[in-house]
Amino acid sequence: MCGIVGEVGNDNAVELLIHGLKKLEYRGYDSAGIYVNDEKGNDYLIKTKGRIAELEKKITDDVHGKIGIAHTRWATHGIPSAANAHPHVSEDGRFYMVHNGVITNFKELKNEYLSDVHFESETDSEVVVQLVGKFASEGLSALEAFKKAISLLGEGASYALLMIDRENPETLYVAKKKSPLLIGVCDGFNVVCSDAMAMLNVTHDFIELHDGEIVELTENQIKIQDKDGNPVERKPFHVSQDASASEKGAYEHFMLKEIDEQPAVMRKLVQEYVNENGKVEIDEKLIKTIEESDRIYVVAAGTSYHAGLVGHELIEKFAGIPTEVHVASEFAYNRPLLSKKPFFIFLTQSGETADSRQVLNQVNELGYPSLTITNVPNSTLSREATFTLLLYAGPEIAVASTKAYTAQIAVEALLAKAIGDDLGFEDSKAFDIRQELSTVANGMQTLVDEKEKIEALAQKYLAKAHNAFYIGRAIDYDTAIEAALKLKEVSYIQTEGFAAGELKHGTIALIEEGTPVISIITDQTIAAHTRSNEEEVVARGANLISIVSEKLATKKDQIVLPTVHPLLTSLVAIIPAQLLAYYASEQRGYDVDKPRNLAKSVTVE
Ligand code: M6R
Repeated sequence: MCGIVGEVGNDNAVELLIHGLKKLEYRGYDSAGIYVNDEKGNDYLIKTKGRIAELEKKITDDVHGKIGIAHTRWATHGIPSAANAHPHVSEDGRFYMVHNGVITNFKELKNEYLSDVHFESETDSEVVVQLVGKFASEGLSALEAFKKAISLLGEGASYALLMIDRENPETLYVAKKKSPLLIGVCDGFNVVCSDAMAMLNVTHDFIELHDGEIVELTENQIKIQDKDGNPVERKPFHVSQDASASEKGAYEHFMLKEIDEQPAVMRKLVQEYVNENGKVEIDEKLIKTIEESDRIYVVAAGTSYHAGLVGHELIEKFAGIPTEVHVASEFAYNRPLLSKKPFFIFLTQSGETADSRQVLNQVNELGYPSLTITNVPNSTLSREATFTLLLYAGPEIAVASTKAYTAQIAVEALLAKAIGDDLGFEDSKAFDIRQELSTVANGMQTLVDEKEKIEALAQKYLAKAHNAFYIGRAIDYDTAIEAALKLKEVSYIQTEGFAAGELKHGTIALIEEGTPVISIITDQTIAAHTRSNEEEVVARGANLISIVSEKLATKKDQIVLPTVHPLLTSLVAIIPAQLLAYYASEQRGYDVDKPRNLAKSVTVE
């Protein structure tokens, strides 16, 4: 979702900003723009609908600058167009601004303060730069006008803002609330970005900004003030990640690369969390805090929510603590009755999802302890929760989440094991997690090596399909709904994940000649039941693909899963489903890594 980059002090502003935008492409966007100023009176504003490649085509050789801001926009208010793309400009042409987030009261602000101002765009964002222009024309300094405009933004507003004053193009004005933003500390210049990945080519040292803070950034000064105007001193943190971790290498798409990386992620997690004696090493304070709770609430969105459903089985089985899993956007406004001593787990690849953060804010206000399980160190949800556990999956760039899903399940298993062992539970002691996760890693490897077979199945059954179903029972149902999300989000085939036994209660009416139905069967206790459901759909003309554990497989089953622990089957069953989704999307000619209408990091509610 919208990406922001800015820099001050480097003569190659254009190059640096375009590189940064490209690194943020994965977040999803539909238009892009850049503003640079060479501090000698020359400046350039270029915007376009579509991809960064289109923007680059419009950047002629004479375009240069020493300070600049750039933006990729994911449309919320107003269609994707060059006019609605950022940067926006104040009516008098003095201030240039990019914005991530939502200005909830933009209509009221327009009516109250800006009825005589001409707006170039339909966006909520433009109101902020027009307010700054108005207040500056009334005699306020740029900083005062910036602060006054921000003070008028509604309670519910979210923003990461970068502004340049054409009359003083040596300072970048920065503000943040809810939307992610980092200052990158460089030698002789400074940068700003919504994700460290955008600037890893120039720095590994970043300063996090807190909500309400305002920064004046020059080439050699970083002046932060809190919302009351008090100066803030904050040390940078170091991001050790290698810039090349976010490169595609020989792969055509990030999604395929990330599917392939999953066996390595499993091994990495064992390395990070399990010591040589097989003991899971997790902060003791976290373990004790969870043990003191009477119920765990797992809160997440999308794929992370699906990982929570599997985690629920693992936590109840090994840690013995009742666990509920909730969709974040529902929980925030329709909160269930909470137990007396709740503990909250937030599952989030990005650590920036606004729906989950809204719940975390409420949890913090209520004073309950929480844990964020995330792939991004120092992300907002990581900073704001009581505890953090990392996924160590490496950057996940494709919009469709793959390796973060399996890493989340593995970390939940590690956590459940650590609690269960600490409490002395027999089931937990018998669960040799190092062995189990390495069996999973090997099993995943076998499946990713079967790409050609899965590609052929996608070609035969999905390349021309209009709708499809995944079915399963118990833990296979949890996998089925994630598998369905994967297929629909990248191939645009309308796909439902269904409890296999529930199909006959209405939805089976949708099965007709040639409808693809993919069943997942890994649990011996209910395998026979799901087999009956397979018969029901075949009898109505469905094209059946069965994904079945090797102990339960027959000759007819197209995809056979290597044997793993019964509660870890999602980790292997999801691999062919991810590959089916990948190939279906590719065969149908879609942009696999950047499906339409979607953003990687969903920072609006
Ligand atoms: O960063 P998060 O894990 O919090 O993101 C949650 C969802 O937005 C995300 O999983 C989304 O559903 C993906 N597109 C799924 O592939």
